[in-house]
Amino acid sequence: MRKIFVAGNWKLNKTIAEAKDLVNAMLPELEKITNVDKAVCPSYLAVPAVAEVCKGTSLKVGAQNVYWEDSGAFTGEVAPKMVAEVCDYVIVGHSERRAMFGETDETVNKRLKAALEAGLHVIVCVGETLEENEAGETEAVVSRQLKQGLADITAAQAEKITIAYEPVWAIGTGKAATPEDANNVHKNVIRPLLTAQFGEARAQAMRIQYGGSIKPDNAAELFAMSDIDGGLVGGASLKADSFVEIIRAASMVTIVVEESEK
Ligand code: 13P
Repeated sequence: MRKIFVAGNWKLNKTIAEAKDLVNAMLPELEKITNVDKAVCPSYLAVPAVAEVCKGTSLKVGAQNVYWEDSGAFTGEVAPKMVAEVCDYVIVGHSERRAMFGETDETVNKRLKAALEAGLHVIVCVGETLEENEAGETEAVVSRQLKQGLADITAAQAEKITIAYEPVWAIGTGKAATPEDANNVHKNVIRPLLTAQFGEARAQAMRIQYGGSIKPDNAAELFAMSDIDGGLVGGASLKADSFVEIIRAASMVTIVVEESEK
């Protein structure tokens, strides 16, 4: 089975001092769990401090966004090589960036290309709004976001890409998608598009995370689904205990699946 990959997106939370405290509180337990890939994505200013604490550990660090130019008159932006100087991962296309900060599929694609060029691993987010979901447009919206977001990307580049399916209506609402509904989008919408673009082998190896109200008590049933290869966790990643419990759930699912495959 694919190694489950769970990332915490801290959004606009935690000062530098708080971020260091949080990661220091998580690390001892996280270090005991070796069969799950894990990362945290603090806000920009806390990234270097958290990366320093995580150096030499199994916990990877990422930024929450990146601009596509290397330098120039772009006040307030952060360049891919600046991110790559301090950490390994970056999130692009989060629905909050799309809804509140004017991001489009085209700018997501520019950010993705620039981030890959800088050597970063990229988590590309897609997901439909409540209105789109209720109008039966989930497949159309996710397909458009994925095709345009991944435009011109090759199978070799895709090795460093993780897709995160985050239905907007599930983010921060306490109302996660059912494991079956999420898996249906992963398996029947996202994976086939990845297969068409990158070929069977690469598409099978790529991880598709689910995001939206993942909690310790629903994590295991989500991760047990055939095409849910991990999670992008918001609120529950802001507390050491709940994030560790979610990673532990991923670890247990891995052990159970590996036993059943023997
Ligand atoms: P919640 O886990 O708080 O719903 O947030 C999900 C998310 O947006 C992660 O990127």
